[in-house]
Amino acid sequence: MKIAARTQVGIIGAGPSGLLLARLLTQRGIDVVVLERRSRDYVEGRIRAGVLEQGSAAVLDSAGAAERMRTDGVEHDGVQIAFDGRIERIDLQRYARMPVIVYGQTEVTKDLYQLNRLDDISIHYEVQASGVTGLDEGAARIHYQEAGRKLELVCDFVAGCDGYHGVSRQSIPADVLRTYEKTYPFGWLGVLSNTRPASPELIYTNHERGFALCSQRSATVSRNYIQVATDDSVETWSDTAFWDELRRRVPAEVADTLQTGPSIEKSIAPLRSFIAEPLRYGRLFLVGDSGHIVPPTGAKGLNLAVSDTAMLASALKAYYADGDAQGIDRYSTVALKRVWQAQRFSWWFTMATHRLADSVFDQRMQIVDLDYFTGTEAGRTSIAENYVGLPIEDPVTGHSLP
Ligand code: APR
Ligand code: PHB
Repeated sequence: MKIAARTQVGIIGAGPSGLLLARLLTQRGIDVVVLERRSRDYVEGRIRAGVLEQGSAAVLDSAGAAERMRTDGVEHDGVQIAFDGRIERIDLQRYARMPVIVYGQTEVTKDLYQLNRLDDISIHYEVQASGVTGLDEGAARIHYQEAGRKLELVCDFVAGCDGYHGVSRQSIPADVLRTYEKTYPFGWLGVLSNTRPASPELIYTNHERGFALCSQRSATVSRNYIQVATDDSVETWSDTAFWDELRRRVPAEVADTLQTGPSIEKSIAPLRSFIAEPLRYGRLFLVGDSGHIVPPTGAKGLNLAVSDTAMLASALKAYYADGDAQGIDRYSTVALKRVWQAQRFSWWFTMATHRLADSVFDQRMQIVDLDYFTGTEAGRTSIAENYVGLPIEDPVTGHSLP
């Protein structure tokens, strides 16, 4: 078999985790190669969530990747939760002393790609990794196919940034890997449209017909979601049916001024909570969606991908600069702690806002839960500090990153 190349860190996947890791490691003089199964156009066309925590923004700053986010992104000082016929606002500045930044993940991916291109980072698109070996040997090998040829990338470490459906997690022996999973009996139908956002701030709505979220990409582009059945398909939801249903669920004052229009993109995503442990096996590290999935309520997916990546970059930097292996040894434990916290918040926010079953008792419990959390100092502080994001711990120093 032909040995294609050797690098220090082989990165599988060019989503936000892979592209950001490539940039952070290159900045520190560490050699990387990125292998991505899809085309660049496909990766950059995927529509994903759009809320960045302050910590994620700071990591992007440190990567030199925040220029467009700082000009085009919009700081939101509050977030709104509607239930039981009323709207409660969580003042993020007051309760967590920071805003969130509304900026599309699709744009983050484009910004990172442009930087990596300037850095001359080797990113191979349309290259499928089939497996990883040598994880407990002297060097790891990523096996992949490029233009019909079978090749290998030999590396010190492999970063599994290949998402939930990737191959890297499967390379961890079955007797080592533990997984924890919860699937929710509903999905989100999302519609992107060239319409004015329903409200200046995001509104998460608990309604008896089901959850709804009014989000946005800019002053003229909206991203709205409604809870639908898992077996619904986009074909069954015309644009008109979507807007009618959204209008029924959102608070009356929002419905009255809702601007509707044709969808630019429409898709249904299932909701899932998933965590793999450990996030490190020998020379392999799982980063972002390859190690964990959160339901989108709270928009933690990208933010966890960024915090994992920042932690791993710091750990690898200490290893290559000083031969200090403490960070890489602590990566899994330190990253998982934050992942479980974000998982808890995303799970709580999902369970409190979605139509779960027909039990009237459970519906009353949701209302009293939201009433308590939005109506007390302790509750508002809890929502706010989780929504803006918990600190990112450096596995090397134990201090906050970046
Ligand atoms: N070989 C090469 N590339 C692969 C392979 C493979 N065998 N399997 C998957 N990939 C690629 C996918 O095509 C995808 O581009 O890995 C990439 C993984 O990217 P993401 O799924 O975006 O995962 P990540 O970078 O961790 O970002 C997590 O994305 O899904 C959202 O909500 C999630 O916001 C979070 C973020
Ligand atoms: C989005 O804008 O797409 C979005 C915002 C907040 C979420 C999820 C998605 O919680």
